[in-house]
Amino acid sequence: IKSQIGIIGLGVMGGNLALNVLSKGFHLSVFNRQVLGKEENVAKNFVETHANKKTSLLGFDHLSPFIDSLETPRTILIMVKSGEAVDAIINEITPLLNANDCVIDGGNSHYKDTIRRELSFDTININFLGVGISGGAEGALNGPSIMPGGSKKGYKQAKKILDAIAAKDINNTPCSAYIGPGGSGHFVKMVHNSIEYGEMQLLAEIYQLLRYVAKKSPEDIATIFENWSTRKKNSYLLEITIKILRKKDNGAYLIDKILDKTGQNGTGNWSAVEGIRAGIPIDTIIASVMARNISSRKEQRVLTSEIYRLDYKIPEVEETFINQLEEAYYVVSIINHSIGFDLLQRISERNSWELNLSEIAQIWTNGCIIRSDLMQTIALLFSEGTYQDLLLFPEIVALMKTNISSLQTSLQSGLLSGFALPVMSGAANYFFAYTTANSSANLIQAQRDFFGAHTYQRIDKSLNDFFHTDWKI
Ligand code: 6PG
Repeated sequence: IKSQIGIIGLGVMGGNLALNVLSKGFHLSVFNRQVLGKEENVAKNFVETHANKKTSLLGFDHLSPFIDSLETPRTILIMVKSGEAVDAIINEITPLLNANDCVIDGGNSHYKDTIRRELSFDTININFLGVGISGGAEGALNGPSIMPGGSKKGYKQAKKILDAIAAKDINNTPCSAYIGPGGSGHFVKMVHNSIEYGEMQLLAEIYQLLRYVAKKSPEDIATIFENWSTRKKNSYLLEITIKILRKKDNGAYLIDKILDKTGQNGTGNWSAVEGIRAGIPIDTIIASVMARNISSRKEQRVLTSEIYRLDYKIPEVEETFINQLEEAYYVVSIINHSIGFDLLQRISERNSWELNLSEIAQIWTNGCIIRSDLMQTIALLFSEGTYQDLLLFPEIVALMKTNISSLQTSLQSGLLSGFALPVMSGAANYFFAYTTANSSANLIQAQRDFFGAHTYQRIDKSLNDFFHTDWKI
């Protein structure tokens, strides 16, 4: 029997996706290179461990027989580390492929690499898809959220398998849909990750305030978060945070033993760069990347904390502080999502991708890392018609108006205590700047005109006219 799909790379994601594909009854071939100097044959072991009677599972450590084992036109999913490894595999398999085969890159590739790869496959009539896959190892196994972009023909061919392995939303619709041309699938996954960065940092900041301002134990905080989750604020990230806070190690909280130095693989950073490059305000995204960057300077932070010895008096807070934090948490989360969707919309317009943000929100309601009650609400709001900024829906306006003061007071207590609250501050800055009709940018324009004769417009004259003043006289 020829296989209906081939998977290249049996790392955590590739291996779990392979098991997911098998469980849906597809005939599958897997390829993993024999690791130099190691006896172990990864593909062979995989087949020995997971072979079943219902579907055929074939394992290879050479590409040519692997490619030959696939039904034509072929569907091949590459699950190797993004970057050079993807190009290396593509270069090796390309001579073995035929026109109309479909090659899928399911890693966290940069969307510009995806555009380049699609163009080069296009010249030989091979259909290339750059597919964002979210949900971590568990999602890959049980149903991830899938963001396929690129060749429409390729998508038509792969749709059946992608729909089968994807998570399902509340209406049992697959959390997978064609995103758009070129690198749009990977772009959308990149923005997904940057919303993820914002939400993670927000939870870390709220945790810090509960722990050190409200003086709650990790167990107390887990219980507080559990309460929040019953009030339409549940999310996958909140759920895992509750579990993390409860985890003990030799009788003590494990969280207290983990080094406060954050790793990152690049997608948050790429989003920040894309937003800045396009002149889009993305305060919470930038703030979450900067928070990771500064966290990595652990040795310097220890040194400067000793030099400065800033012993702030933590203000006394009342029990209402926790209610305020709950409101602040929700408000910042809404702003962070609004920023993420705005970034998608504006880049979509620039590239004529015609991204369907309603469908993207739906894809994100299950399977992915940022699935949440809020995402359900957003999917519902966006399904109502043409896209508009999340912050402009009347329900959201009402909610923001009632709760924004809680963000102000939470920030006040946190900053007075000497805590860095980059995402909460970034969200507040974005919100206040965005809702201010007359800002201080007039002074910037005057300064630019002063030293560079860059000219300015006047509110008492036609906006078609530009003025220059000789400021020194
Ligand atoms: C997902 C995750 C996944 C991965 C990221 C995390 O959606 O399943 O986002 O793609 O965990 O690589 O990124 P950092 O390593 O940069 O935190």
